[in-house]
Amino acid sequence: MNPHHPPEPFRIKMVEPIRLIGQDERERAIEQAGYNVFALLAEDVFIDLLTDSGTGAMSQAQWAAIMQGDESYAGARSFQRLSKAIKEIFGFRYFVPTHQGRAAENILCSLSMKPGAYVPSNMHFDTTDANIRARGGRPVNLLIDEGRDPQNLHPFKGNLDTQKLRAFISEVGPENIPFGMITITNNAGGGQPVSIENIRQVSNTYREFGIPFFIDACRFAENAYFIKLREPGYAQKTTLEIANEIFSLADGATMSAKKDAIVNIGGFLAMNSEDLYRKACNELILREGFPTYGGLAGRDLDAVATGLWEGLDESYLAYRLAQTAYLTESLLANQIPVIQPPGGHAVYVDAGRLFSHIPQSEFPGQALSVELYRQGGIRAVEIGSVMFAHPDPVSGQMVYPDLELVRLAIPRRVYTQSHLDFVVQTLVEIAGRGRQVHGYRFTYAPEFLRHFTARFEPVPGSAKT
Ligand code: F0G
Repeated sequence: MNPHHPPEPFRIKMVEPIRLIGQDERERAIEQAGYNVFALLAEDVFIDLLTDSGTGAMSQAQWAAIMQGDESYAGARSFQRLSKAIKEIFGFRYFVPTHQGRAAENILCSLSMKPGAYVPSNMHFDTTDANIRARGGRPVNLLIDEGRDPQNLHPFKGNLDTQKLRAFISEVGPENIPFGMITITNNAGGGQPVSIENIRQVSNTYREFGIPFFIDACRFAENAYFIKLREPGYAQKTTLEIANEIFSLADGATMSAKKDAIVNIGGFLAMNSEDLYRKACNELILREGFPTYGGLAGRDLDAVATGLWEGLDESYLAYRLAQTAYLTESLLANQIPVIQPPGGHAVYVDAGRLFSHIPQSEFPGQALSVELYRQGGIRAVEIGSVMFAHPDPVSGQMVYPDLELVRLAIPRRVYTQSHLDFVVQTLVEIAGRGRQVHGYRFTYAPEFLRHFTARFEPVPGSAKT
């Protein structure tokens, strides 16, 4: 057995049936969905790799914790248990629960953003990007150049370029940067990890200029395990020790617990500043709920508290990272272009290369996500021009992202190796008729986060025979 692919450190106690509907039914379903997989019915999907967010399988310990949920409006025991886990893992002085990560981002942005202000990061995820823009701010991505090259094998491709950061802060002035961020792992750039050395340098830079530093912590445990595997001096440290060190470098964090806390809903905003905490409580009461439940049920808080520890478990993380490595290696063995090295939670297919005949303006990634469904009932999300292309605020010219990707996100503890083999087989079949695949154009697109609700029609002209 390949030691890099350890078997699942759990066995299956409950099953949820799934089924591959017929080819005709799939064709009808995707057409009715306006060629947007977000509009498909889940029951029409066979293998759902749309997201690893909120789609994990909870453990028996989490379900048991749910039964102990304390639904008191204020001061519930569930809140105490969550506080203890957050204190021990993250170490921040204060936190407020939120219903998910973007609610934490919204509170942070609503309290700190001035129109025209900048928020640098390695790479903002789409909800963070949109929350900053929605408050009149300007998100800035300062990823290292290696992170933009799909074939570069840099061990920490999620790192932020600290030279660019320093130059950027000097150019716009620290007074125009209400807070700085870093996303671990870098979801929008391939689920790539950030080194602790880089987090330290970023922290030092922000601190030198007096800029509060917030970590987008959704996949902190996967990032911690990458550090353990790859960063000199960390092999003997536990993922908990690594997490403690990471968060000691920051002033706060936004967290979607739907990722590394392996729950179906939940999140929080953590911080050291008492002033920010007080303001966050007021904002929370206005929009989410009382500060000891933050828009969640007490039982949800208990599931998060338990899941935060399970997410850090090293036998689980070894299996988890092995799944993305297995899928990546299998696709590469079949000449399917994917981002390398494999990230933590997902495999990113380079649709721009696979469908090099489709121009960025006709969305090669969208085309691949449609083909995955048509061919194998697989649902995956485009991370390319549908998600990120936008007109330049000054010139009005369209600005396209560097990469046209399709993300195969792996839900936690949900799919087996045979499911992954089916995904590989499906992609091989699609690649075999690559140039016959055509692009798409919008028939409807909202202003923000348009990939969720946009509708499309095919542009047959872009297919080559
Ligand atoms: N930050 C990152 C890096 C994320 O990946 C997400 C969500 C969020 C913030 C927002 O958290 O969904 O709980 O509000 N990512 C999901 C995904 C949606 O599919 O990658 P949320």
